[in-house]
Amino acid sequence: MTRASVVGAGMTTFGVHDSTLAELFAAAALDAYDDAGVSPDEVDAFYFGNAMGGLTENDTHLAPKLASEVGIAGVPAQRFEDACATSSNAFKNAVQAVEAGIHDTVLVGGVERCTPETGLGTGEMTRIFASASHRQYEQPTGLTFPGVFALLTKRHMHEYGTTEEQLAHVAVKNHANGTRNPRAHFGKEITVEDVLESPLVADPFRLMDCCPFSDGASAVIVTGDDRADSYDAPVDVAGVGHATDVVPLSAKPVPHATRAARDAAAQAYEQAEASADGMAFAEVHDCFTGAEVMASEAIGFFEDGEGGPAAEEGRTALDGDRPINPSGGLKAKGHPIGATGTGQIVELTEQLRGDAGKRQIDGAERAVAHNLGGDAGTTVVTVMEVRR
Ligand code: COA
Repeated sequence: MTRASVVGAGMTTFGVHDSTLAELFAAAALDAYDDAGVSPDEVDAFYFGNAMGGLTENDTHLAPKLASEVGIAGVPAQRFEDACATSSNAFKNAVQAVEAGIHDTVLVGGVERCTPETGLGTGEMTRIFASASHRQYEQPTGLTFPGVFALLTKRHMHEYGTTEEQLAHVAVKNHANGTRNPRAHFGKEITVEDVLESPLVADPFRLMDCCPFSDGASAVIVTGDDRADSYDAPVDVAGVGHATDVVPLSAKPVPHATRAARDAAAQAYEQAEASADGMAFAEVHDCFTGAEVMASEAIGFFEDGEGGPAAEEGRTALDGDRPINPSGGLKAKGHPIGATGTGQIVELTEQLRGDAGKRQIDGAERAVAHNLGGDAGTTVVTVMEVRR
C-alpha cells in the first residue's frame, strides 16, 4: 500500500482577522500550493474542515464554495465537522484516500473565525462552542468548555496532586514558545505570577490558563509517497489514529484518562512501528493548561500523574527532554477550531524539515500531534517522520 506524504504546508497567522472565511482559507491554501510547487489543476480532491460557519456566520456548504475560491472547482470536495478535531479528521480521511489509491494529490485544510470580527462576543461564542457538549445532559446545566476541562483537570488534581502552579508553568512555557512563532496569536512572555493572579474563569482555570478565541486557516498538500520524491521537502505520515470516548463526561469511567487519546495514540504508534520514546516532540491540544497535562500522559510522554511535575521541571520546554507545543500550542499560537488540526500538521511538517526557525527542535526526525474534540469525545493522533 502507498504511504501518504505531506509535500506542501501553509497557514495564516492565528489571531484576529478582518477577512471572510473564503479569503482566510484561500491565503492558507495558496501558501500550501506555493510551498509544494503544485498548481491547482494537479489537485484531485479537497478534504476540508470547518466546525461552526453555519452557527456563527450562516455559511454552510463551504467545501464547494472554497474549492471554487482556490481554483479546484470540479474535484470531489467534502466538509468535516468534529468540533476542535475537525481538520485532523479531514486529514486522516485524506491520508486514507491517498493510501488506498483513490486520490493522488489532495488539498486538506480548515478555517474558522471565532473573534469579535464575526460580530459575536465572548458570551455568544462560548454558547456556540458549547453546542459540542451533550445536548441533554451538559448544556442544560450551563456547562461550557472552560467548565468541561476544569472538571477533568480537577479530577486529575484530586487523583495525583497536580497543582495550579504546575498548570501555570504550561501557560508560561507555551507563551514563551509563541514569542518564537511569527504566526502565533500571542507573542508575549508571561510569568507564573501573571497566570496565578489573572481572573478566575472556571476553577482551577484563570484567564491565562485558557486558549483564546482566534481566527485563522491552515492547509497541507497530501500525496502518495511514490510521487513525493518529485517534491522538494516531503514529510511522511507514519500513522494516524482516531478514536472516540463515551459522552457525556459523567459517563466516562476514568474521565481524566482521556481514553480516546490513549486509543488513538496506540493506533498511531502501532501503524508507525514506534512508541512515545521515539518522538522528538509533540504538538498537543492544550485548549486549557490542564488539557496539556492530561494529553502529555495520554500520548505516553509521561506516566500518569507525572505530567504536572514534568511541566514545572521544564521537561516540556523547547530545550527539555520532552518538548511539547514548540509552536506555542493552542494557548499562545491560538485556536481557530476548524484550522487547529491541520495547523498542527503544518508545525510537524516545518519542524521535521528543519524549517521552524527560532523554535526548531534540533535533529527532530519523528513527532506526534494530538488533537481532541468536544468533551474529550474524539481524538486524532498523527505520527509524522522525515523521509528516509
Ligand atoms: N489568554 C491570554 N490572554 C487573553 C486570553 C487568553 N485566552 N483571552 C483574552 N486575553 C486577553 C485579551 O487579549 C485582552 O487583553 P488586553 O486587555 O491587553 O487587550 C484581555 O485578555 C481581555 O480580553 P477579552 O476578549 O475581553 O477576554 P474575555 O474575558 O472576553 O475572554 C476567555 C477570555 C478566557 C474567557 C476566552 O478567551 C475563552 O473563553 N477562552 C476559551 C475558548 C474555548 O473554550 N475554546 C474551546 C476550547 S475546547
